[in-house]
Amino acid sequence: MIPRVTATVDLSAVQHNLQVVRTLAPRSRVMAAVKAAAYGHGAVPVARALEAAGVDALAVACLEEAMELRQAHVQAPIALLEGVISSEEAALAVYERLQVVVHDHWQLALLDELPESSRLSLWFKLDSGMHRLGFPLSDVPQLQRVLRERPNWKLCGWLTHLACADEPGSDFTAQQIGAFDAALQGVPGARSIGNSAGLIAWPQARADWVRPGLALYGCSPLPDRSAQSLGLRPAMKLESRLIAVRWFEAGESIGYGRRYRCPARMPIGVVAVGYADGIHRAFADGTPVLVQGQRVPFAGRVSMDMITLDLRAVPQAQVGDTVQLWGPGLPAEEVAAHADTIAYELFCGLTQRVHFRHLHAAGED
Ligand SMILES: Cc1ncc(COP(=O)(O)O)c(C=O)c1O
Repeated sequence: MIPRVTATVDLSAVQHNLQVVRTLAPRSRVMAAVKAAAYGHGAVPVARALEAAGVDALAVACLEEAMELRQAHVQAPIALLEGVISSEEAALAVYERLQVVVHDHWQLALLDELPESSRLSLWFKLDSGMHRLGFPLSDVPQLQRVLRERPNWKLCGWLTHLACADEPGSDFTAQQIGAFDAALQGVPGARSIGNSAGLIAWPQARADWVRPGLALYGCSPLPDRSAQSLGLRPAMKLESRLIAVRWFEAGESIGYGRRYRCPARMPIGVVAVGYADGIHRAFADGTPVLVQGQRVPFAGRVSMDMITLDLRAVPQAQVGDTVQLWGPGLPAEEVAAHADTIAYELFCGLTQRVHFRHLHAAGED
């Protein structure tokens, strides 16, 4: 059976991108964000590839994601970025040797229910300005007291998250880093600040630990830098195929709502991929795809199982031809902008109907 839609994930690209991060932040340890099924790339294969390439730790959002990795025998340290939400989760986190990010006093109360002998590893998350999760910076002395009173708890470090790291002109990032550093002046423990954008654009955010996600999947997190210019290789290629090529006269309309009107007699290609696969209905006419290595635009609304293309640039295109929706030569971050979204959302939005294929070193399945 030929799959309609295939996401091919090149795990050697993920490993290569880890090396790019290491080159950018040579003095930092790397905690790789593999939450949300490794940004839709497949949690277990990506985690295994990163582990084989010597990543220092992995980060997931929640306990279920960590358990999936432990059940697949991933041994690397794993941090729970949102921490635990019940005493059962706290106990399991200790049992599975997870690093628990603690962002609020209610979580401390949960962890206090653990037996006193529990060897809990934790990060404290501080709010330096994102105002989503994290203790106020003024809580640092109190948190230090908490640690002194619980000698079996091991502090992995202090972390914070940047709100505008992808805005090179913003002074808010410098403010956040300055406030975080000042609050921790003289306080023992490792520091972690930068996500992908932070570690690339803000040298001060390359602290003891960096926490890249997007860059590992080969996308640029910065509007003014391409992935290629950063040396990053796209890890995912999303492909479907042409299932019809038909000619229409000038003035004829294509698809739902008749949104696209043919400006001339022209070939229209129908591709077997739609919003039920994760291709957003918000994509505008003009969104590029690759057919026979050539960029051609969407022409008409995305429907559940199909999209339609203006094939004038490749009139020789035929049924069966491969259509690349993003990947090498067509960055997902560029495609995403045509639906007013970001590559993160495209990757995470792929549905169960998409067939995944993971290539290991040297292109092997
Ligand atoms: C706390 C935290 N750190 C790091 C990351 C990785 O961010 P990015 O994928 O932008 O590198 C995320 C992702 O949202 C995050 O929530």
